[in-house]
Amino acid sequence: MKRFIVTGHLASTAGNFSLNDLPGAGRMDVLCRCVNASFFLSHDFRRDVECYLVLCGEPEPPKTVMFSGEKVRYLSPDERSAGSLIKKALALPARSEFRESTPGVYVRKGGLGQVLDEFECAVLAESGQDIRSAKDLPEAYLLSDHHNFSEDEMSLISNLPAYSVGPLSLHGDHTISVLNNEFDRRRAGWH
Ligand SMILES: C[S@@+](CC[C@H](N)C(=O)[O-])C[C@H]1O[C@@H](n2cnc3c(N)ncnc32)[C@H](O)[C@@H]1O
Repeated sequence: MKRFIVTGHLASTAGNFSLNDLPGAGRMDVLCRCVNASFFLSHDFRRDVECYLVLCGEPEPPKTVMFSGEKVRYLSPDERSAGSLIKKALALPARSEFRESTPGVYVRKGGLGQVLDEFECAVLAESGQDIRSAKDLPEAYLLSDHHNFSEDEMSLISNLPAYSVGPLSLHGDHTISVLNNEFDRRRAGWH
């Protein structure tokens, strides 16, 4: 199982945002693209992936929405589709435990701290160790959205291993694609 955990620093925690203005919902478009990059292949789907969106925007931060590749239904490879499932998840009253909103999509109260308690995470960062030189790949990866990790977040993650997928700063969804590719290459014996 691979896990991608993306922090949306301004991403809405209310289910009333417009699907016609995903950027206006705290750059929800960035998170929707990360969902799609986590799962979609050409005419196929990565069932062995979970994608966690840590939403830190108003009005009820933080909340976490989780997509399970094994169980998700009704997700198609466009941003509005992921946005619509996030909206439905946020319309459900969130509790401390995950609740399923639509098949394979879950929401709970709580943010990065809870996720870090659950998984051994690595940070994806431009300045990290070259992922190709890693002997074994970690199973859970933290990414930031269009903002850098905050000081509070840095205090939680600064001791975690950090990996880089290349020398240039990429968009989060592109970083996920490169990392998925690294897993694919190793599984196929190309490494
Ligand atoms: C758009 S980048 C963030 C941009 C940058 N931190 C800033 O605000 O100027 C989104 C995230 O993708 C990941 N990322 C981007 N390029 C990367 C790389 N070369 N290696 C590993 N992770 C990368 C990091 O987690 C980063 O926080």
